Amino acid sequence: MHYSPANRDRALLPHDPLKAIVAPRPIGWISALNAAGELNLSPYSFFNLISSPPTPIVMFSSEGKKDAVSFVEETGEFTCSLATFDMAQQMSLTSAPLPRGQSEYPFAGLETAPSVVVKPPRVKGTPAALECKLLSITELSDLDGRMIDRFMVLGQVVSVYVDEQFLVDGQFDIVAARTIARCGYADYSVVDSVFSIERPPGG
Ligand SMILES: Cc1cc2nc3c(=O)[nH]c(=O)nc-3n(C[C@H](O)[C@H](O)[C@H](O)COP(=O)(O)O)c2cc1C
Repeated sequence: MHYSPANRDRALLPHDPLKAIVAPRPIGWISALNAAGELNLSPYSFFNLISSPPTPIVMFSSEGKKDAVSFVEETGEFTCSLATFDMAQQMSLTSAPLPRGQSEYPFAGLETAPSVVVKPPRVKGTPAALECKLLSITELSDLDGRMIDRFMVLGQVVSVYVDEQFLVDGQFDIVAARTIARCGYADYSVVDSVFSIERPPGG
């Protein structure tokens, strides 16, 4: 079958499958401060690393201008903590729409750990986190040039935290970390195995 995303057959597809097709998506667990020093923590699965070192850049996108975007806009910094299976319930709790300025950390039973280059902390206990400085915030538009109330944030990674207990032979062990990712509907996946393929020469 083929269908237009705006007009799917709701008898056949009661729930939109798009986010189950573009899956699993990494989760950026974004922490940011506003100008008043209030803290926000929220998960974003419209999230990815879109440029490698020496200029690593991450992207997250917000449907509506949520606190993560407006806080980053005010202070220019954020962190992305890695969400893991052990922290999955707490990660989900941090998506609650708390009043602006009420931190999701205590609400989800989480603690902060200090960053080294930026002011927003990371989630204490996460196996890895990225400290980022804002490059740009772009409101997305559609084919007709209409603004669609989606805000794409780009940030340059200026410092990387790795819990050394997850290093094996110099590599970050995502099976040990049990990294989780977002699938469609209410589903998640957890990394419990990996396989390796060498690229062709020059690939
Ligand atoms: C795993 C997960 C991934 C999410 N990804 C996104 C996303 O990519 N973009 C988005 O706008 N909202 C996403 N949400 C919802 C936001 O996290 C939620 O609306 C936000 O935390 C609300 O808090 P705020 O009002 O403090 O901004 C996601 C929620 C969960 C649980």
